[in-house]
Amino acid sequence: MGAIEGQKTALVEKGNILLVGLCCIDEVNIVKKYPNEDSETRIFEKYLTLGGNVANSAVVARQLTSQVQVCASLPIANPQLTALLDAAKIDTTLSIPRTDPKTEVPVSTCILNETAGSRTVFHYRGNLPEIEADEFVRRVVKDEVLSKVGWIHFEGRNFDHLETMMQKVREWRHGNSRQEPVISVEFEKIRDFNYFERLTQHADVIFMSKDFAKNKGWGDAGAAIEALKKEHAKAASSDASNLKVICPWGEQGVYGQANGDIIHVPAEKVNVVDSLGAGDCFIGACIWALWNGYEFPKALEIANHVAATKCAQRGLQNLN
Ligand code: FRU
Repeated sequence: MGAIEGQKTALVEKGNILLVGLCCIDEVNIVKKYPNEDSETRIFEKYLTLGGNVANSAVVARQLTSQVQVCASLPIANPQLTALLDAAKIDTTLSIPRTDPKTEVPVSTCILNETAGSRTVFHYRGNLPEIEADEFVRRVVKDEVLSKVGWIHFEGRNFDHLETMMQKVREWRHGNSRQEPVISVEFEKIRDFNYFERLTQHADVIFMSKDFAKNKGWGDAGAAIEALKKEHAKAASSDASNLKVICPWGEQGVYGQANGDIIHVPAEKVNVVDSLGAGDCFIGACIWALWNGYEFPKALEIANHVAATKCAQRGLQNLN
């Protein structure tokens, strides 16, 4: 039985899910025990796989619907990355191709300790340019594209350009008197986290990691949700009561608030063998569930279950 078998609703026609952010390659190394510095350790299994927050969320969402697109900065001369994206059947037609053959693919060296269930990531960024706001606007913010997008999600990175991207989508929506695409953003990376104030106002849905919240000095999910709601309310154009905030909180489960009380979905107890990309998996499943019309508490429950199923297995396959 798959993670969400029997829970899918009948498909009604709706715009695609578009995910904007990073695609990279993960070189996964599996060990029995995380090594001490300056020691030698036997890797007992290794493989290359698609990685990056948005790619991971897309891999999961793509198992639940075919209507998934990714807008990423893509070095087209790298056959490995292209092959991984093709194998995952991810539509990259809205991505920004990097044609310079010297453009590198970002690669993460990931150490999975199967005994502890931990994952440690060493990320090599390389020289791949981020997406510029202008490029994004030319490619995505036009009637023939955005009218076919039901949900647009932004990975929290590339902060110099992200605000403009979100703002332009919001302006397009307003100018066309539409409710869609729904705009979501992820606050996960703790570097540059002061940008959150500027991004919050443009979002309808915010995914906030526990690490992010803790680093901002918010002791629990309730305080973090309150802070985001307050920030959102400051923007003249925003209706704070419409903001949904979703906070996966590790072993405590998930907290979220739509327009009522804070909801808590307890974590499922599983034997964690691979937590690499679990947060991205949660986001992919949650976006799918909300996009697919599930009520907020049910969507959190589904995403929680898909992420738990993922943690109990290697990789991101067979999550539908
Ligand atoms: C997991 C992940 C990996 C990737 C790294 C990039 O969340 O997306 O797949 O290598 O983070 O930061």
